[in-house]
Amino acid sequence: MLTSAVVGLVACALSVAGTDAVATTGSPYKISLASRKIPKGHAAALRRRGMTAFSIPLDDQFDGTDLQWFGNISVGTPPQTIPVVFDTGSETLEFTSTQCGAPCANQIMFDTEKSSTYISYNQTFSIAFATGGGVNPVISADEYVLTMLAGEDTITVGGIATPNVSLYTVINQTEAFASDPYSGIQGMSTQAQGFFAGLVQQGLPAMFGMYLTPKIIGNAELTLGGVDESKIFSDILWSEVPAGSDGTWQLNSSQISVNGYTTPLLASNRTVIFDSGTSNAYFDTNTTEAIYAMISPNIKPYASEPGAYGIACSEIGTLPATLDLTFTTITGEPFNLTIPSSELNVGPFSDDPSTCQTLINAFDGLELVGGSLLKHYYSVWDLSNQRMGFAWNGVPQWL
Ligand SMILES: *[C@@H]1O[C@H](CO)[C@@H](O)[C@H](O)[C@H]1NC(C)=O
Ligand SMILES: *[C@@H]1O[C@H](CO)[C@@H](O)[C@H](O)[C@H]1NC(C)=O
Ligand SMILES: *[C@@H]1O[C@H](CO)[C@@H](O)[C@H](O)[C@H]1NC(C)=O
Ligand SMILES: *[C@@H]1O[C@H](CO)[C@@H](O)[C@H](O)[C@H]1NC(C)=O
Ligand SMILES: *[C@@H]1O[C@H](CO)[C@@H](O)[C@H](O)[C@H]1NC(C)=O
Ligand SMILES: *[C@@H]1O[C@H](CO)[C@@H](O)[C@H](O)[C@H]1NC(C)=O
Ligand SMILES: *[C@@H]1O[C@H](CO)[C@@H](O)[C@H](O)[C@H]1NC(C)=O
Ligand SMILES: *[C@@H]1O[C@H](CO)[C@@H](O)[C@H](O)[C@H]1NC(C)=O
Repeated sequence: MLTSAVVGLVACALSVAGTDAVATTGSPYKISLASRKIPKGHAAALRRRGMTAFSIPLDDQFDGTDLQWFGNISVGTPPQTIPVVFDTGSETLEFTSTQCGAPCANQIMFDTEKSSTYISYNQTFSIAFATGGGVNPVISADEYVLTMLAGEDTITVGGIATPNVSLYTVINQTEAFASDPYSGIQGMSTQAQGFFAGLVQQGLPAMFGMYLTPKIIGNAELTLGGVDESKIFSDILWSEVPAGSDGTWQLNSSQISVNGYTTPLLASNRTVIFDSGTSNAYFDTNTTEAIYAMISPNIKPYASEPGAYGIACSEIGTLPATLDLTFTTITGEPFNLTIPSSELNVGPFSDDPSTCQTLINAFDGLELVGGSLLKHYYSVWDLSNQRMGFAWNGVPQWL
């Protein structure tokens, strides 16, 4: 998710244009929270035990279409299990806590009072997200807002504890978050954050792999410290994250093709963000409309949700809408990442069930793909080499 501007998880969006988030506190929002250094002896002891890659299972939030994947981390002492979205579109860790109460009551809340290692910094922040967890564009700035208290605690993942990880506990939130099946978001940017930074300091390779499958396939997982070879069915194609990306997972793209055809506008260079916390795709209005024009003249802006587009549900199922996004490997070869036609329909609008929403939302200044692309690949996020890798994940494209 991007925060107030970028998209991410449901929440997740702590970013703005391009990256995640925009803050409503007034201050520029890139908060950087890093875990503190692990004492030397501790790290060495862990390294002796061997820090090899391990996977954590992910659940798929499914609502007619695959919206978001989330898994558990353990917070505090003794550990409390908290489900979070592992969000490549943001950088920080935030989750609901008992300090929130009623507005968060539908979610699992971290009980700060039951953790002997929780420390509050006594500073509150609020953030607004530019993208929500679902497929609907965020219409107003006060729709997805979290009020959070900064603090720190021990985070345990894969059985390894990282002490003193900076985090935010949610102390109030707008209603849009209440139905989320997860409690928060763990940012997974190109710089290791939080518990992941702790694991890396203890010798885990700075890389993770994502197997974000459609619900019908299941078994989604996040692999920390490497890749899960059993989920990879082709060579991995590597592409370099451009210099100056400043934490954002993004790649230069030279062309977008729709059903095999392109236009001068679509064949121009652009930088595309990869956000595991966002379900649909976002492009500039002109790009969005150029793509839709090549699919059907009947795809129209949806008046009550600015940025969203739709078409009669009776028509959408038959439309070919294969999107090929062209990138370049580290050795200079072009390759495509494809969003198949099956992703075009993200479901009926709630206020007009005969009109179905289409995949791309227009958002000037933001070019981003999320779950609808990532679920068709095994994706590798290599922090050490600032590159991304893609391989076939064995899932048929029509799923
Ligand atoms: C997270 O933990 C809860 C409770 O321990 C468990 O029911 C759930 O299946 C776990 N979720 C995942 C994705 O592992
Ligand atoms: C880390 O947290 C512990 C409590 O778990 C606290 O005693 C210690 O002072 C913290 N260390 C730092 C450097 O803040
Ligand atoms: C936060 O406030 C509590 C209660 O006033 C205090 O005990 C604690 O030391 C404060 N924490 C920090 C980091 O200032
Ligand atoms: C929590 O946020 C809601 C708006 O989402 C607001 O109406 C309410 O006053 C807030 N509650 C507190 C205690 O700040
Ligand atoms: C990405 O594009 C920018 C602007 O054209 C260029 O300066 C940069 O070298 C490119 N980086 C990569 C890794 O392709
Ligand atoms: C990418 O897709 C476009 C449109 O379908 C096609 O013309 C091009 O050859 C493909 N590029 C590669 C490297 O496969
Ligand atoms: C697009 O990017 C490529 C590679 O960075 C570069 O060679 C080319 O000149 C760029 N094209 C335009 C129109 O900027
Ligand atoms: C979109 O297209 C219009 C008309 O061609 C043009 O005036 C405008 O500058 C374009 N906007 C962007 C952001 O490229």
